[in-house]
Amino acid sequence: MSTRLPVQPSDRFVGRRRALAAALGPRAALVFAGGLRGRNYPANSYPFRADSHFLYLCGAALTDAALLVHDGRCELFVVPAAEDDALWHGEIPSASEVCRTTGVDALRSIHELPAAIASAGGARAVATLPSLDPLTRARQAALLERRWPGGRFPGVDGLDAVDLELADAVIELRLRHDDGALEMIRRAIEGTAAAHLAGMAVTRPGLFEYEVRAAMERELIAREMECAYGSIVTVHGEILHATTHHNRLSNGDLLLADVGGEYQGWASDVTRTWPVGGAFSPTQRALYEIVLAANEAAIAMVRPGVRYRDVHLAAARVLASGLVDEGILRGDPDALVERGAHALLFPHGVGHLLGLDVHDMEDLGDRAGYARGRSRSEQFGLAYLRLDRDLTPGMVVTIEPGLYVVPAILADARLCEPFAQDGSFARERLTRFSDVRGIRIEDDVLCTPTEPVVLSSSIPKTVAAVEAAVARGRV
Ligand code: GLY
Ligand code: MN
Ligand code: MN
Repeated sequence: MSTRLPVQPSDRFVGRRRALAAALGPRAALVFAGGLRGRNYPANSYPFRADSHFLYLCGAALTDAALLVHDGRCELFVVPAAEDDALWHGEIPSASEVCRTTGVDALRSIHELPAAIASAGGARAVATLPSLDPLTRARQAALLERRWPGGRFPGVDGLDAVDLELADAVIELRLRHDDGALEMIRRAIEGTAAAHLAGMAVTRPGLFEYEVRAAMERELIAREMECAYGSIVTVHGEILHATTHHNRLSNGDLLLADVGGEYQGWASDVTRTWPVGGAFSPTQRALYEIVLAANEAAIAMVRPGVRYRDVHLAAARVLASGLVDEGILRGDPDALVERGAHALLFPHGVGHLLGLDVHDMEDLGDRAGYARGRSRSEQFGLAYLRLDRDLTPGMVVTIEPGLYVVPAILADARLCEPFAQDGSFARERLTRFSDVRGIRIEDDVLCTPTEPVVLSSSIPKTVAAVEAAVARGRV
């Protein structure tokens, strides 16, 4: 059992539900919160994280609840409190408190849901989105007579047409953040900025990655925040989603920290890379400046009407051009990018949507990230681009170019040979950069009608600012 009521005024959620109802017309929508996931025995579960679509529309994190939007009304169905709930979990908020804070019209027992579905048009007519919680998903499928494929992540394959209508309506709403959403994202980024400053200040040779991680996550916990995703704090920045933190930091290492806080469900996602010894070496600095130039060039393109794939390609061109200057790639940067040569060192996409999810709405697959009629490239590197929409005001995207020396890529003849054979990839030059394994610089950027707003701009990023922030811990 878990209950967290919203901190923002209820009209935020009422407004979103009205907008959803207007998009769906007479069709009813039923959105589930998801439930607790077991860790071992029944009283010990993982911390509850409500499904994001539910959080968006309701603001409250209520285990096993469901929200019915229909006919100009919104009803919240919850599990009635057990007799001993107050003993184990403390006072349960009253129905009137839940209604007041969420702005729903009525609070009802979840046992009344079948009857409510029947009067909202029947199981097949009520639109829903599969919960990320497998148990909830199974209950949902039974209640609403859906036949969904199994699997850990449901996605949109196999959804009924009515559910796709709901998915599209939700995507349309969540793509552009309202003021309430932006307030929460800014709050998440404030904590994240404190975390990165603390991480830089605490870093010194001899510590372990987990000690830097602890210093960073402390700042989030101290602000009533969670981690929006598993923190990456590693001297092996070339492992893109590193999940371990056991390495000891040595003088001469770069430390890559991809750490983002989550506040009331809203995410941030920031990466900085800094020198453990306090100063970048000339080779580290050379590659860092290239990544920084790509980050800044891409940020400058976050404007209405710009296709996000072009932002990615612009970052790739800056990286390719810098790599040509360093003699690692050879040829015309535009032609190198067209052939995908840059992806040998920058294998991922330049970013993604950010919102309630760190990769916002990726539970809906490319239906959220890709505009209608666009699909993923098959080229190595570009294939990992998570977003290919035209930017519009209100969108928050990450901009996160990087350079990585990934052994698995360098050992893959299929990827390297085409560029090694014609001399466009001079891999032997990489030995001069042996003190660089991975560099990423990631910011969270709001698209506005005019200039891009870098929400994470307070976090040191230039060589001088990063070195000063690391030095601050040593005085
Ligand atoms: N933190 C995961 C990412 O940057 O996409
Ligand atoms: Mn990211
Ligand atoms: Mn990240």
